[in-house]
Amino acid sequence: MVWNLGPEALQKAISPLFLPAWRFYPQVDSTNDAALAWAWAGAPDGALVVAGEQTRGRGRRGRRWWSHPEAGLAFTIVARPLDGEEKAAARFTAWGAVALVEVLTALGVDAAVKWPNDVLLNGRKVAGVLAEAVWRGERLEAVVVGVGVNLAPQAVPPPEAVDFPAASVADGLGHAPARWDFLARVLTRLAWWRPRLRSEAFLRAWEARLAYRGQQVQAGEAQGMLLGLEADGGLRLQKGGAVQVIYALTGHLRPLS
Ligand code: BTN
Repeated sequence: MVWNLGPEALQKAISPLFLPAWRFYPQVDSTNDAALAWAWAGAPDGALVVAGEQTRGRGRRGRRWWSHPEAGLAFTIVARPLDGEEKAAARFTAWGAVALVEVLTALGVDAAVKWPNDVLLNGRKVAGVLAEAVWRGERLEAVVVGVGVNLAPQAVPPPEAVDFPAASVADGLGHAPARWDFLARVLTRLAWWRPRLRSEAFLRAWEARLAYRGQQVQAGEAQGMLLGLEADGGLRLQKGGAVQVIYALTGHLRPLS
């Protein structure tokens, strides 16, 4: 890779997007941690935290997120919930995943959302989303939505370090996309969906991009045919004549065949 990865190149890539505020850290423990601290300190809706490199990236359920200084992309957006959005918390995770899948699809690769928070490319995980809430008493002050993407093969963790097959965008595309250009594309889709997060259109876009629809899956203890989504983000599975709705997973959602 011979990308220009410095803050000037980042500024050039994202300046057409008119972000309210952004911070670039050449090295940071976790962009989610930096965004959580900034959210407590008053970061505006849409504020962006970008890492050159993360040293302690976090994934769902306490897992580690491997970050590569050049071959990966790690960023977090601060969202200030609008009225009613506190009841639709699952949509913030989906927001990141749907935006990523749309960008990958537009680049010509076969991508899908693996419920609840992963992005697959040809069946392998290339990205993950970690949404975390900032509560002040009963009030949801902010949600930070962190996105990690394996752009090039060097970012893919070794098989023994992951519990689901992983790959990079380059594996599908034939080359790694330029980091800040890819970021700008994802931010553009995020900005488009932001005011539409509570809409039926967003739910349909999310559902249409779900991996394994119509297939038999294992979802934690449950098994069944993946039907789609409830409006609150629950995953609908059919087993025999009954429909079961899943809200949390202990492991990964997997196809049974
Ligand atoms: C997962 O796969 O479980 C979610 C991974 C999320 C990783 C991203 S990288 C940017 C942001 N900062 C973090 O510490 N985690 C998220």
